[in-house]
Order: sequence, then C-alpha cells, then structure tokens
Amino acid sequence: MNSANDSFFDTPSAFQTAFKELNPSINDLLKCLNPDQQQHFWSSAQQVPLNEWKRLINTLSETAEELDGTHWVEPTSLHPDTLAAQGYDPQSTLQAGIGCFSKGTVAFLTVAGGLGSRLGFNGPKGLVPVTPLQHKPLYQVFSEKLQALQRRYQRPFHWFIMTSEETDAATQNAFAEQAWYDPHYIHFFKQGSIPAFLKDGQCALKEDGSICFLPNGHGGLFKALEHAGYIELFKSLGITSIYYFQVDNPLIHLDDPLFLGTHCLSQSSFSTKVVVKTDPQERVGLLVQDYGQLRLIEYNQFPEALSQEVTATGALRYRFGNTGIHLITTDFIQKCAQLALPYHVCRKKIPVWDPQSQTTYTTEGYKLEQFIFDVLPVATRPLLWEVDRKDEFSPVKNAVGKDTLETCQRDQINRWHRWLQAVGEPLELSASDSEPSTNLPTPLMEIGALFADNQVDFIQAWKRLNPKPKTLQGLYLHDAS
Ligand code: UTP
Repeated sequence: MNSANDSFFDTPSAFQTAFKELNPSINDLLKCLNPDQQQHFWSSAQQVPLNEWKRLINTLSETAEELDGTHWVEPTSLHPDTLAAQGYDPQSTLQAGIGCFSKGTVAFLTVAGGLGSRLGFNGPKGLVPVTPLQHKPLYQVFSEKLQALQRRYQRPFHWFIMTSEETDAATQNAFAEQAWYDPHYIHFFKQGSIPAFLKDGQCALKEDGSICFLPNGHGGLFKALEHAGYIELFKSLGITSIYYFQVDNPLIHLDDPLFLGTHCLSQSSFSTKVVVKTDPQERVGLLVQDYGQLRLIEYNQFPEALSQEVTATGALRYRFGNTGIHLITTDFIQKCAQLALPYHVCRKKIPVWDPQSQTTYTTEGYKLEQFIFDVLPVATRPLLWEVDRKDEFSPVKNAVGKDTLETCQRDQINRWHRWLQAVGEPLELSASDSEPSTNLPTPLMEIGALFADNQVDFIQAWKRLNPKPKTLQGLYLHDAS
C-alpha cells in the first residue's frame, strides 16, 4: 500500500516503482535531493493518482493536434436584434428571463483561480483596481452589479467564486474586510491543482523538494463544484442555471434577461456569448461546427488559411470569438463533473527551485490546464449569443499591448460617454476643467452599476438626476436610489 511516509531508500512503494517506470529520468532528479526532500517529493507525487500522472505525462509528450478543418462549418448565432426573425418572440423571451431572475433560478459564478501571470499584478486579479476614477477592484464592480440586480428583482442572488490555492486566502480576506457582498449569498470554493513541469518535461520543484502544483484550469470547475458539494446545493436552492464569467472583464452585462430567456426557452444546456473577431490575426478562440458538434478552437491551433476565409458579404467566415461568458444548466454541470476533460499544455512563467544550483528562480514552464469549453461538443442544443464587444467585453489580461488595464479603462469610459451622448450631453471639456493627466478619454468620469449599468437605465436615471452636474470631468455617479 502507498504511504506518504515511505522512504525512497528503504522501502520503495509500488507507487514509487510504477512512477519511475512512467518517468525514468526522475532518478536523476532524485539524486540531487536529500532524504527529507525526497520524502516531500514522494508525498506530493502521491497526491495525484498514477493514472492521472499517465495522462499528464502523455499530454506533455504529444505534439499538438494539427487541425485541417476543411469539414468545419461556421456556426450560426442568435442576436438580440434579429431574435424575431430567428423564431423567438422577443417579448415572451424577455419575460421568461425576467421570470428566472425573479424566481432566483439563476446564480452567478466567477472563475478566479488563474495566476494572472501575463498581467503580473501582485495579488489575485479580482483585486486589480480597474475603474478609471474610483479605482474600484474588479470584485467591487461585480458586487455592485449584483446589488443592482437584487434591487431590480427584489431578491438576493447567490454568487459562487472559484479560487485556487494561489488566490483563495487573499480573495476571502478582501471580501471579509471590504464587505462587498452579503456573506450569506457568497460561496467560495477552491479548484484542484496539478503538477507543473519544466521545459525538459521534468517536474517543477519547490525548495523543500515537493512538487510545484498549480491550478488545473477553468475546466477544473466541474469537479471542484462537485467536491465542494455545490451541485447538491444548487438543487436544494432551486438553481437551474449558472451565469458563468471570468474575473477580468468589468464590462460584463449580468442583468441580461433576454439572453437568459433565450437560454431557457431553447432548452440549451450551454449558451455562450460571442463577439465578432476584429481581424484574422486576433488571438481569440473561435467557435466552429465540427461534424455537427460545436467546438472552440484556440487561436494557435486554428488553420491559417481558414482564419482568413471570408463569406460572400466580406465577413470572416469563422468570426465568433470566445468571451468566457456562459449560461450553463446545473444538470449539465453535474454531467460534466463525471467527464475526464483533456489537458492543454500552456506555457507560463513559474517560480521553481533548481536542485543543482539550490536556488529558486522564475522560468517558463508548462502548466497543464483543462478548459471549460471542452464540454461544448457534448452540450445539448448549445447556443451562440452575439454581443457587441464595446458594450460587454474588455478583459484585463496583459501588462502591455492589447487587453491591458489602460485599454479596459478606455473602453469603460467610452461606454459611459456613449450613454451621455444618448442623453444629448456634449462631451467637450470646458475651460475650467483641469488638464487630464492620463491617456484616457476625456471627460474622465465614472458611473457605478448602482446608478446605471446599461444605456436604457442610464437615460432614465439621468432624467431623474436633479440638479444635473455642471461638469463631466471628474464626475462620479454612484447610486440612483
Ligand atoms: P486566463 O488564462 O485569461 O487567466 O483565464 P490567467 O490564467 O489568470 O492568466 P495568465 O494566463 O496566467 O496571464 C481566464 C479566466 O479563467 C480563470 C482566470 O482566473 C480567469 O478568470 N482561471 C484560469 C481559473 O479560474 N483557473 C485556472 O486554472 C485558470
């Protein structure tokens, strides 16, 4: 029987023998470790069953599947403006969505276990001060959106947040300190983690000799929910759909009864919001129909020629880009928790301890991840819901280049400016406005979700606002109540 206390030298366990067969070069690594470190190594190795080690090691040695995609078909999407033409009665669809919100059959779920390594923020990404004026953290932005929803539908909503070993404590501490959301309706749960590897395929180590474990990707959601007992909780709370979103997008439109109504009436088990790809080179996962099954293909696997193809109208043939915003039925989540999703090899900067030099340093290694969208092929009547990127999607991913904090703040301000234009407000800075000190659009301003979180609500709230602000530069509208 395996035991975490087996000594490598004295009594190699069946686990150790089998592990060495699977990974013969491990002996070289073990030689560099002292007995204590070896013990830590084996204790950590045995946290992963052998068959899972096999899957991980096989994934690392496989070359990425070459997709030719010649049989793919572009999927169709639904759009709020063309719903009637696509066979839905917009009014009853809207009412169906309002009904789900009012009955509380929908709950919200944020995946926030990622390392945020590209952004390089010191702490969980949900704590990034994301708004342009008040510098509210992402979690506060989401909390206010959910409070606005609670106000509208006169009921609280459950909010599930998936953290990881890396993000859990700081996230929970921040919620406890800041009291952003009613603790009775917030449910944290940790995703699983799996070994990280170095470029030579060897396990990445920590200083005590144990293996470095990292979060297992957003696809780890299903098993993590099951493990936390939350699939049962969904049932007991009468929650039938989960509104899933990523932690990095403050433009997320949560109060969307039309999307929810369409998801319910179409009896889709997985409905996903998509945005139209801006140009063939954009690095975004694309949706395709593959022998009748919906699949998401990562940009680095998408055949170059197909990514350039255009239709008779000049639009990109494969243009529906992933936003990471989904409605998923809880029945389907239960089914997905039984699947062994594939692993994808992701290159990430990871801190590792080098047994030769006895130092810890950061290097590019391999993190294996499961992806939530790998369940799409087994979804029932999956549905694509096309949204306008400038209104709903501007994630904070990178420190520089595309999808940075600055581009996200610019997109937030531009959205508020469009709302002001809709009520006829001129946006020019007046002579008395102080010089803007950032690259952000002017007037630099901010509107909180409790004031308004979409243009229609903004117009109403603005009409009621008395007196109207004299200047827009530095304007902060927080609460319309
Ligand atoms: P990303 O891949 O964009 O975020 O994940 P990341 O992994 O945090 O960032 P990089 O790649 O290291 O820079 C999209 C969403 O999925 C969550 C992230 O927190 C984010 O909300 N995620 C990602 C998890 O919850 N767990 C993971 O293991 C990976």
